[in-house]
Amino acid sequence: MGASSTLALCATVAGAAAFQIPFLFPPSQTLVQITNDTIPLVNSSALQDLISGDRLLVRAKKLFEIAKLGEHEYNHPTRVIGSAGHVGTLSYIYESILELGPYYDISNQSFPAVSGNVFESRLVLGDVVAKSAAPMGLTPPTKNKQPVFGQLVLVENDGCEDSDVPDSVAGAIAFIKRGVCPFGTKSENAGRKGAVAAIVYNYEKDAVQGTLGTPSPFHVATFGLSGEEAAPILKKFEKEEAVDGIAYIDSEVNQILTVNIIAQTTAGDPENCVMLGAHSDSVTEGPGINDDGSGTISLLEVATQLTKFNVTNCVRFAWWAGEEEGLLGSDYYVATLPEKENKKIRLFMDYDMMASPNFAYQIYNATNALNPEGSEELRDLYIDWYEEQGLNYTFIPFDGRSDYDGFIRNGIPGGGIATGAEGIKTKEEEKMFGGKAGEWYDSCYHQLCDNLGNLNMTAFVVNTKLIAHSVATYALSFKGFPERTGFAASSEYHSQVKYHGSKLFI
Ligand SMILES: *[C@@H]1O[C@H](CO)[C@@H](O)[C@H](O)[C@H]1NC(C)=O
Ligand SMILES: *[C@@H]1O[C@H](CO)[C@@H](O)[C@H](O)[C@H]1NC(C)=O
Ligand SMILES: *[C@@H]1O[C@H](CO)[C@@H](O)[C@H](O)[C@H]1NC(C)=O
Ligand SMILES: *[C@@H]1O[C@H](CO)[C@@H](O)[C@H](O)[C@H]1NC(C)=O
Ligand SMILES: *[C@@H]1O[C@H](CO)[C@@H](O)[C@H](O)[C@H]1NC(C)=O
Ligand SMILES: *[C@@H]1O[C@H](CO)[C@@H](O)[C@H](O)[C@H]1NC(C)=O
Ligand SMILES: *[C@@H]1O[C@H](CO)[C@@H](O)[C@H](O)[C@H]1NC(C)=O
Ligand SMILES: [Zn+2]
Repeated sequence: MGASSTLALCATVAGAAAFQIPFLFPPSQTLVQITNDTIPLVNSSALQDLISGDRLLVRAKKLFEIAKLGEHEYNHPTRVIGSAGHVGTLSYIYESILELGPYYDISNQSFPAVSGNVFESRLVLGDVVAKSAAPMGLTPPTKNKQPVFGQLVLVENDGCEDSDVPDSVAGAIAFIKRGVCPFGTKSENAGRKGAVAAIVYNYEKDAVQGTLGTPSPFHVATFGLSGEEAAPILKKFEKEEAVDGIAYIDSEVNQILTVNIIAQTTAGDPENCVMLGAHSDSVTEGPGINDDGSGTISLLEVATQLTKFNVTNCVRFAWWAGEEEGLLGSDYYVATLPEKENKKIRLFMDYDMMASPNFAYQIYNATNALNPEGSEELRDLYIDWYEEQGLNYTFIPFDGRSDYDGFIRNGIPGGGIATGAEGIKTKEEEKMFGGKAGEWYDSCYHQLCDNLGNLNMTAFVVNTKLIAHSVATYALSFKGFPERTGFAASSEYHSQVKYHGSKLFI
């Protein structure tokens, strides 16, 4: 039954005997199945050959229809957790795998997720509206969802210790420097001393798009502020001039239950699994067909085609929920794995945004120097494949922006590929990949227009074939791939990572 039966999962449904393999195949092959119950061992090029753009597009269209279920509540298509669009996505994934019969064991892992919504916000410093002020993700509202007025009080050091926060912050707005500890800790320390709001200003000139992370009863309404807009305020503090402010956030933070879906091959060594994941959810703002409808679909299609082959090692697919709220599903999954189960995962491969319209072929620069051993071997598998195809690629930072983070932090080698989000394509990259320099890789990133028109099918097919290759390679053999060692990330990884999902947390 594979490893999943011993996991802390809420339910496990083995493919029932009623779903026999012939259910899947065209009649001509059904006969073969009946007379010959062995299937060929997985072969990378044969699996890649089964990936077609037509099939990916059919699934994308289906997913967009599903996103429209969210219109009723949100007035536009969305697959955000808690929406009918996300529930529909989960059913689609689950049913698609169930149809594959006993080839997979499927489990639902239900977990509590927090989701935040900011409806309105405003920050006035002195008599100036702060343009860069950005309410933090998962921030509570200001009192009674009304504007609050108060003196700005400078918090000492980094606001990471209770003692950094002066008592005079009570009834006032705490002004705190970014750095050293998470934004959530700073907000909590200010809230505990009675601040009515908090501002975390950047040590760099840019704005801060952050998140408070796991809610705490002591969190207060918290904004990020650019270093540029903080500078004149800090000057006034130096001259011991008083500054007052008005803070207003209308927001809510809700707890809901949502679900990770895990499918594991019934064949293959369950002590040695290759694991891969994509996130099933989108942001509130749109249908998320590229982010991460593309990865969700790539995994479904690879899982479907894989059933035509036997495997040596177990293959475990995951569709994570709550990625957009801060990697909630993947974090929960890894955090609840006992060490014995953790060790069975030889590596984790993350597939988030496979088909950006102005794409670059990006490989996470995961090295063994900073990451669990094996991460670099995986990176090199992607490099070799793009090179064999005569395609260009670039490296991107491996800095906590997607679901690999929990795996790396718990000692599991990882990596992945992507095609770009809100970054700007360079002139050099235009020569390497086509598309348009000076524009975002995905100009519809986290927006309503992340719809069917937001996929580059060339990139989608290329990357899905690469996913097929990664699965086939490790499903066949771990020869030459490092054995698992520890259960933790290096301190260098911890010190480098500033993101937790799409938002900064520190
Ligand atoms: C898959 O391979 C295993 C191990 O070689 C073998 O026992 C099993 O019968 C094979 N299954 C199929 C369906 O070919
Ligand atoms: C069964 O199928 C496998 C893979 O297609 C093939 O290698 C094998 O020769 C077949 N065996 C029989 C008895 O037909
Ligand atoms: C793998 O499949 C390809 C066809 O896609 C074939 O040419 C090759 O011989 C196969 N390799 C093995 C080891 O079966
Ligand atoms: C697992 O979740 C899917 C999608 O939400 C649902 O359709 C299915 O009924 C669930 N199965 C079990 C056994 O809970
Ligand atoms: C990749 O990461 C290593 C450190 O682990 C660093 O030395 C190297 O410069 C990085 N390469 C790129 C292209 O970012
Ligand atoms: C790879 O990039 C070079 C420019 O660095 C370009 O000349 C070449 O055409 C690109 N190759 C492909 C397949 O796009
Ligand atoms: C996908 O990208 C390729 C290479 O940049 C380009 O030639 C093609 O027109 C793009 N397709 C779509 C549908 O945008
Ligand atoms: Zn994503």
